[in-house]
Amino acid sequence: MNLENVRMLEFPQKGDERGRLVIVEGGMDIPFEVKRIFYIYGSDKTVVRGQHANRKTQFVLINVAGQSKVKVKDGKGNEIVFTLNRPHTGIYLPQMVWKDMYDFSEDSILLCLASEHYDPEEYIRDYDQFMLMIEKESQ
Ligand code: TYD
Repeated sequence: MNLENVRMLEFPQKGDERGRLVIVEGGMDIPFEVKRIFYIYGSDKTVVRGQHANRKTQFVLINVAGQSKVKVKDGKGNEIVFTLNRPHTGIYLPQMVWKDMYDFSEDSILLCLASEHYDPEEYIRDYDQFMLMIEKESQ
């Protein structure tokens, strides 16, 4: 898996005089059925979260309020940084990419949609191990 599959997604919005409504349908607006939702808030500017890759889980991250940044690495020396700051856009993260979330604004609420239930065993939290796995995959 490489960074070509990492991309920003734009979700349909239904705005009217009452305000805005953003729609995210599993398997339609995002490329998987959602099995898990969690959200991150109260992390300040100095915090770096994530710092892992997942063997199985795909994610979509949406800053429904405020902003944060996501750095995505492929384990082969390539990385891309995305700024999440619009509630109707999200970043798609396939399996086997390394991600760091950081630079959280005070009002940041980062909504995370996941393709799998939580399983700590499928998290890779050591970057050297991640690089080795990527190297093996490409052999
Ligand atoms: P962690 O993976 O460190 O969060 P982040 O990706 O933002 O750095 O998770 C923090 C804690 O929450 C850790 O003890 C594992 C637990 N956790 C769950 O129990 N279920 C979940 O779905 C997630 C994402 C985390």
